[in-house]
Amino acid sequence: MDINKSLELQLHAKDRIPGLCQLLSKRPDQFSWGVWPGYFSKAKGAKVWDLDGNEYLDMSISGIGATVLGYADEDVDNPVKWAIDNGVASSLNCPEEVELADLLCELHPWAQMCRFTRTGGESMMVAIRIARAYTGKDKIAFCGYHGWHDWYLAANIGTENALGEHLLSGLSPCGVPSSLQGTAFPFRYNKISELEEIVSKHGKELGVIVMEPIRNRPPEDGFLNKVRALADECGAVLIIDEISAGFRLNPGGAHLLFDLTPDIAVFSKAIGNGYSISAVIGKSNVMQAAQKSFISSTNWTERVGFTAAIATIKKYIAVKAHEHLIALGEHVQDVWARIANKNNIDIEISGIAPLSHFSYKAFDPYVAKAYMIQEMLEYGVLSSTIFYPMYSHSNNDMKIYEEALNKVFAKIQKFNNELELKLKGKKSAAGFARIS
Ligand SMILES: Cc1ncc(COP(=O)(O)O)c(C=O)c1O
Repeated sequence: MDINKSLELQLHAKDRIPGLCQLLSKRPDQFSWGVWPGYFSKAKGAKVWDLDGNEYLDMSISGIGATVLGYADEDVDNPVKWAIDNGVASSLNCPEEVELADLLCELHPWAQMCRFTRTGGESMMVAIRIARAYTGKDKIAFCGYHGWHDWYLAANIGTENALGEHLLSGLSPCGVPSSLQGTAFPFRYNKISELEEIVSKHGKELGVIVMEPIRNRPPEDGFLNKVRALADECGAVLIIDEISAGFRLNPGGAHLLFDLTPDIAVFSKAIGNGYSISAVIGKSNVMQAAQKSFISSTNWTERVGFTAAIATIKKYIAVKAHEHLIALGEHVQDVWARIANKNNIDIEISGIAPLSHFSYKAFDPYVAKAYMIQEMLEYGVLSSTIFYPMYSHSNNDMKIYEEALNKVFAKIQKFNNELELKLKGKKSAAGFARIS
């Protein structure tokens, strides 16, 4: 397979763009440097074409979970094209932002107000600012990954690796003011005692509790309600980050499934089907605190993002997309378990069905991952140890994937200790690291 144009551009890009691209998860070294195509010329449905004209079935990160309906979905793109033809920006505001706010509040009756931004991390920053403005308290307790902003990375200042157990390890707080040390404290999912300890130490200054509603495993032992109770006890705003979990298990935030009432919830990824849009929704008394602070940005008014989100959410509801995402996710986890077992490969499967992933427990996991990616490319399949289903994935796609992966797992077992010698590119990078 010839991917010369892609490889040339990667070499050029790493000297032109620090870190090669804008998102760690799309960096070729996260897959296998030298064999991963890295760039696309076209994407449609569940297919991707690279710069050299190779066509792939994408069974990997699916736009890192943003394109929940599938690539270039016409039911989203046609309204977007209408918006482009009618102007995406002017001196006046577009009415679509009010329509999207209404739609999100109807889906989440506990929320009465919304603000919008364009990216997940940015919307989390807005949510944190509103929460701090509302409570007048600076400190944050959090669980999980919430983006690249100062408030979050501050947790790693002066600690060995506070963020190590929260999705992405090795994140460096370099460039974050050291004065933010001691402002953000992590607790692990389902470990209520860890949050209790933070509340008992910092309760008076704790203005915010932030977490995902679910990611890898379901809440146990009333965990979410206990978090809610602790937030109420110390007067903290409870922010539920639905950036990855939202619109996967149900049409709306996953918190709706657990009878949890947050003060603020944050959406991005799935609501835009790849277009840039994020939403911060919340109770009106809390959200009104946005007016005490200065939260304002030119491109937050742009029309395409709102238009795409309205169309995406309406289609998602109409086709009950979550049912397909859950079914495919369960199917893939079953495929992984069966063929790993058949080929005697030790893996650990995790994640809610629509955000499925596994890790190799035998071999060097980053060698095994790179080898799998390399060999799956030979079958025309983009793969990873993550699979995020899209509505556009078909049962036939799953069949193609299963057949190819079965053969690749057999080879992994066969080559065993010599796997690294079989790599045509580099082994996968382990999380956040400098690209050279
Ligand atoms: C739960 C969660 N919060 C925040 C973010 C950051 O979103 P973005 O990459 O759009 O800044 C992510 C991204 O993966 C996420 O999964």
